[in-house]
Amino acid sequence: MKAIIVRDGAGKPELVEQPKPEPDAGEALVRTLRVGVDGTDHEVIAGSHGGSPADDDSLVLGHEAVGVVEEANGTDLNEGDVVVPTVRRPPNGSNPYFERDEPDMAPDGQYHERGIVGAHGFMAEYFTSPASALVRLSPELAEYGFLVEPISITEKAVEHADASRSAFEWNPESALVLGNGSLGLLTLAMFEQRFERTYCLGRRDRPDPTIDIIESLGSTYINSTDTPVPDIPDTYEAPDFIYEATGYAKHPFEAVEALAPNGVVAALGVPSDWTFELDGGRFHRELVLHNKAIVGSVNSNVRQFEAAVETLGSLSEPFLESLVTGVYDLDEFEAAFENDDRTIKNAIQFSRHEERR
Ligand code: NAP
Ligand code: BGC
Ligand code: ZN
Repeated sequence: MKAIIVRDGAGKPELVEQPKPEPDAGEALVRTLRVGVDGTDHEVIAGSHGGSPADDDSLVLGHEAVGVVEEANGTDLNEGDVVVPTVRRPPNGSNPYFERDEPDMAPDGQYHERGIVGAHGFMAEYFTSPASALVRLSPELAEYGFLVEPISITEKAVEHADASRSAFEWNPESALVLGNGSLGLLTLAMFEQRFERTYCLGRRDRPDPTIDIIESLGSTYINSTDTPVPDIPDTYEAPDFIYEATGYAKHPFEAVEALAPNGVVAALGVPSDWTFELDGGRFHRELVLHNKAIVGSVNSNVRQFEAAVETLGSLSEPFLESLVTGVYDLDEFEAAFENDDRTIKNAIQFSRHEERR
């Protein structure tokens, strides 16, 4: 079968031939339909995040997959089920985080992430997975099923941010998403259903397709070149909820100051090291005197994948069509990794849903 890998240090993906995997007990064999590409894949390819399995010098890419069960192999799945795999797997057998279905809370060393760190991913014509790490979705959602994983990231972050505000009556009305990449735009679409007013920050001038999407969602675009985060309260309003999806390391700190009293920042970006000056006293005081919270969040669990399946079903077709800027067949896989201003969300198509092999 064909697979897309990155060799250590190569800095670019490669299409290779590999043996088709065989499922172990408790695992199903899945025929891959589509696999999405996100900012993390670019970081993995560049070598700034993640890494190959310990006994290998290359990594099969891909962590945002949707596929069809080809061999249920005695699990409670059925052949033909459309499924999405979760990302984390235990490195040696199991550990308490996986046993209590909270692999997303496991610290370094207690997880591998398929397609990111320590375990091969899903960019192959077939993959195997424990049935317990496969979440079913209705066949009508198969086309956009590769968006379940990134949506689940926001399901988790919002759950944790809300939990931090659950000890008092919190009635948020406005939300600001920092970042107009695929994660930021998906989150903005989710927020449209919850908040009365939403804003999304980018750094691009018009015309730009992401600004069109932001405005078609009824949201306000903020260009950080004209209005940096600290100026947002005076120019627009102080938001109750700020979701950081830029990976720009100053943003979480600036966001805490820009928040309305009693608000919360969810930080999602995974930046490289960067030392900069910060008024720590002001930051500390702002958190304390205005009851603010900042919550970091990574990965997601089966329950959040299930919530993401529901959410995917609620997103409008025009929004999904404008978000997904390219779905490429294997013979043009390189195009899926291009990252120009017209690219929002790309995916690679390994097979078609209707196909039977
Ligand atoms: P992405 O496509 O690279 O999106 C980041 C966006 O932020 C880009 O559109 C970029 O604008 C914009 N941006 C960066 N710096 C900015 C600034 N100073 N002002 C305004 N806009 C700025 O990445 P993504 O896939 O959406 O993911 C977003 C971040 O979340 C990444 O850091 C990724 O690693 C992280 N992530 C974390 C998790 C998790 O579990 N915590 C899951 C998925 C992703 P331009 O395009 O114009 O450069
Ligand atoms: C993935 C998460 C993963 C995170 C950190 C994200 O792009 O969607 O599943 O935990 O990167 O590696
Ligand atoms: Zn991701």
